[in-house]
Amino acid sequence: MRIRKAVFPAAGLGTRFLPATKAQPKEMLPLVDKPVIQYVIEEAMASGIENIIIVTGRGKNAIEDHFDVSFELERTLAERNQKELLKLVRDISSMIHVSYVRQKEPLGLGHAVLCAKEMVGNEPFAVFLGDDIIESRVPAMSQMMKVFARRRCSILAVEPVPNERTRDYGVIAHNRGARGDIYQVTDLVEKPLPEEAPSNLAIIGRYILTPEIFSHLEKTRPDAKGEIQLTNGLRSLLKKQPIAAYRFQGKRFDTGNKLGFLKATVEFALKRKDLGPGFREYLKSLKL
Ligand code: UTP
Repeated sequence: MRIRKAVFPAAGLGTRFLPATKAQPKEMLPLVDKPVIQYVIEEAMASGIENIIIVTGRGKNAIEDHFDVSFELERTLAERNQKELLKLVRDISSMIHVSYVRQKEPLGLGHAVLCAKEMVGNEPFAVFLGDDIIESRVPAMSQMMKVFARRRCSILAVEPVPNERTRDYGVIAHNRGARGDIYQVTDLVEKPLPEEAPSNLAIIGRYILTPEIFSHLEKTRPDAKGEIQLTNGLRSLLKKQPIAAYRFQGKRFDTGNKLGFLKATVEFALKRKDLGPGFREYLKSLKL
């Protein structure tokens, strides 16, 4: 069964980026000159996904505008004969079919995924979190689709993290499978302290989920902060279905916090043909 649909939860408050996110969504913060969410949607497209479902909330209109046609801008660029910029702008709106669903209150990632239930229907689907940008030869989601094709169960992307960082992630307990990069999940723990973490394999923002996750999310109780956590929904699903974890090939940039975002900005800028050489010279001149 092919994965045709992808859900992009983008309704969080983005408090770690305040004040930048007071009046604009964190998904629209640019890494060099492209909003974070566009990198992730490009990965979905490169993986063959046809339907993008973005879960938005209050103050997220900029995301819809970004993927919509911008008549005035296109007309002005056409009149000025700025063909390359016109193509750049048109390519974004003609990229792919995007639908939107609203999460009225930020009640957690699990709740955001649940908001896409009607649009997803009864088929396995992908979830992408914009905080994680993965650079790889084969798109990370394509790699996961291959694992899904054989296992036919929910697949979580994982990556080893330093012990002191487990408290920032959902962490899996596992039995290592025959292949070194695929694990059978035996439990999931949300943000464990290092001494309580069942492993150092953290769940990264890419998932393939079976549609049964929805009924489990519906039954999942809010946590102490009043949020429905996806990890808790997955825990409940695990009692009924196997879940596998996959250590993807590629380099992940955690753009969900300020330092990670800065690191990604520097690396992406250095890789650019038009900006890299000048930027490198500048960094060297800083004599850090
Ligand atoms: P985060 O945990 O990064 O939360 O959410 P956040 O609100 O975006 O950012 P901080 O921590 O306050 O800085 C992980 C993903 O889940 C989405 C977010 O948009 C992000 O993509 N999310 C989170 C929702 O869509 N709805 C929610 O209620 C919570």
